[in-house]
Amino acid sequence: MNEAIVTENLFNIKIGYAAPKNPIALAPMAGITDSKFASRFRNAGLIVLGGYNLDAGTNEAAQKELDRERKEFVSDRPIEFLEGELDAARGLAAVAVNVRAATIEPLIEAARLAKKYGAILEMNAHCRQPEMLALGTGEALLKDTPRLCGYIREIKKTGVVLSVKTRANVVDDVSLAKAIESAGADIIHIDAMPPEGDNDLAGADIRVIKRIRNSTGLFIIGNNSVVDFESAKEMFGHGADMVSVARAALSSPGIIDHLVREISSLQSLTGWYNAPKHICAGGDLRALAFCCLPVKPCALHGALKQAGISAEEFMKIKTEFARNTPIEYGEGTCFGSMTWCCKITKPCFLRDSALTSSGLSDVEYMQIKKRLSEYILKHRKRRD
Ligand SMILES: Cc1cc2nc3c(=O)[nH]c(=O)nc-3n(C[C@H](O)[C@H](O)[C@H](O)COP(=O)(O)O)c2cc1C
Ligand code: SF4
Ligand code: SF4
Repeated sequence: MNEAIVTENLFNIKIGYAAPKNPIALAPMAGITDSKFASRFRNAGLIVLGGYNLDAGTNEAAQKELDRERKEFVSDRPIEFLEGELDAARGLAAVAVNVRAATIEPLIEAARLAKKYGAILEMNAHCRQPEMLALGTGEALLKDTPRLCGYIREIKKTGVVLSVKTRANVVDDVSLAKAIESAGADIIHIDAMPPEGDNDLAGADIRVIKRIRNSTGLFIIGNNSVVDFESAKEMFGHGADMVSVARAALSSPGIIDHLVREISSLQSLTGWYNAPKHICAGGDLRALAFCCLPVKPCALHGALKQAGISAEEFMKIKTEFARNTPIEYGEGTCFGSMTWCCKITKPCFLRDSALTSSGLSDVEYMQIKKRLSEYILKHRKRRD
């Protein structure tokens, strides 16, 4: 068994009753990610088992896929099978079960079961196998938002923590995410697959993660082509609360442990593992916390416009927040106060000397900046 990595209390991630101990997840792979496979990844913060087929229709469809040599989990007693898996995965990590069904009833039954085991239910709005699409499940749900949202509302009545797994660039991702949020889901698990034929994008389409961060308060699990810490950091720096790994867990099984170690080390050093990139480096709106005084023509002005905040209001909001906090101070820094200072990972001896003078650690500084970003975004007048 691989060595246990202790990350307890380092991240403080809470999604309803679910408390993943770190922000690295194993993504679902039908016919592969069952409790036995997942037991190799017990250092993950979240294990998404499945996809499981919950009714006769989806199991028959999965059988047809098996006949053409795709992997699938097939069972003639799907709910018992699901319960067996939840039981076997107990104690591994926080668990989610990715599920498909042709109608709402089995989803409700699975939701009750997931809740009983303290697990997250993940509705699969992602699969694009023709047999599943013909049943109106998987990606077909993305193209039928009223039905998708109706399902979310009904499922949420069970009290389960609900994730929706989507594929990017199929429909308008921002409208979809907003609808998913309004219907009451807790998590969006986005396969940030680039648009078909977009050769400029190597790996994931990070822009989708940023757009959804800027337009919703959903817990975001970013997925697609996370193969090393660099690709994981790209997702975190654009707004993902967690990243998930599917294919790389097959080709390099050590990847999950590696990512858990790296992100834990970043969190210990900075206190904000998914801090945004600066606005001028393409970061999401949370990065307004790191912006300078609005005195020069730069990307800040576009970001403020997007948030519906004027330059004057921005100055007022940041100054008001900083008053009587340690970042109010900042002698020798560019703008005389650390309110306007950069992210801790940007080397700067002026800010570092202000931090030393005010007795503030790097982690404390970044935690104040995190609260500042929440404060700024509370004042936004636009969310699109
Ligand atoms: C063999 C295989 C089976 C998959 N089965 C499912 C599934 O049942 N449900 C689902 O939501 N996603 C499924 N996926 C998609 C993955 O969860 C993930 O979104 C996709 O592979 C992109 O992430 P990656 O680049 O880390 O592989 C599957 C992927 C693979 C490779
Ligand atoms: S204000 Fe500073 S940090 Fe913000 S976008 Fe402009 S140059 Fe970048
Ligand atoms: S003093 Fe350093 S950290 Fe502060 S705004 Fe200037 S460059 Fe950025």
